[in-house]
Amino acid sequence: TRKMSSERYLVYITRSDMPECGVELLKKQCDIKMWHKPSPVPVDEFKKSIPGVNAIFCALTDKINKEILDAAGPELKVVATISVGYDHIDVAECKKRGVKIGYTPDVLTDATAELTMALLLSTSRRLPEAQHEARTGGWVSWAPTWMTGPGLAGSTVGIVGFGRIGQAVARCIKSFNTSKILYFNRSEKQEAKEIGAIKVSFDELLSESDFVICCAPLVPETKEMFNKSAFEKMKNTAVFINTSRGGTVDQNALIEALKKNTIRAAGLDVTTPEPLPLDSPLFKLKNCVILPHIGSATIETRNTMSEISANNILAALNGTNMPAELK
Ligand code: DGY
Repeated sequence: TRKMSSERYLVYITRSDMPECGVELLKKQCDIKMWHKPSPVPVDEFKKSIPGVNAIFCALTDKINKEILDAAGPELKVVATISVGYDHIDVAECKKRGVKIGYTPDVLTDATAELTMALLLSTSRRLPEAQHEARTGGWVSWAPTWMTGPGLAGSTVGIVGFGRIGQAVARCIKSFNTSKILYFNRSEKQEAKEIGAIKVSFDELLSESDFVICCAPLVPETKEMFNKSAFEKMKNTAVFINTSRGGTVDQNALIEALKKNTIRAAGLDVTTPEPLPLDSPLFKLKNCVILPHIGSATIETRNTMSEISANNILAALNGTNMPAELK
């Protein structure tokens, strides 16, 4: 194989815009093959490029399934994704073949919590709409009820998925003098005590919360958990925020709920599909704020994610402990 003849590992990188610092780390021990564009590699091209590689450095835009693993073949030892989410990877299939998986938990928690707050406040205080008015002549004078939205102070916030990111969001939100923080999670979380968050059922969270924030990973149990019936259980004044995965939401049900004011507003950093087509009804709704999946997009965080991914690959290939292996 390539590795035996050259004594350097062969790594395939699925896009040309992976942050340099990670790529540089890899270059010390590996030969690099890289998709030449800053956009997802087409599946056919991907399959053609990976026979015999030892590692794949990918992103959440790349589906790592049986087909891809077959194309890579038995020399593949590790797949490293520059994300904490791994719903794009067939984990069972990797396990079966002894292919290790590296991901990037922890390092993006603060950045994602920060963006969740930014999106929540943009949605509740209507920032995109307000800016549009200011720029286009809608700002006629200060007006007592114009551009008003619900405040966080005194409100009840419900967080669905109380892992690292959900907890970080709860910590930020507390400083806005909320009255109650509720959470729904499959297991009870120790950290909740110190944060002052209360575990409730999903239904109770929906009916009690003024703000509902989804921070849950996409797994079979969370797929489209925000459906028609969930939106109907929410207050008609509720603001819904999603910074996890678009797949946790039945998007048609959300569109209906926003149109009929079943809920007040939604802020989405994630959609189905991504990118969201320009003709999506969501873009026509004033009570919906849409961001292009930028939760972890601070400069520092993306660099660190790239470095961890590279170190995950190097450790897996050298047989040492990976900094963040998905077990
Ligand atoms: C992740 O890491 O899963 C985010 O969606 C992108 O940073």
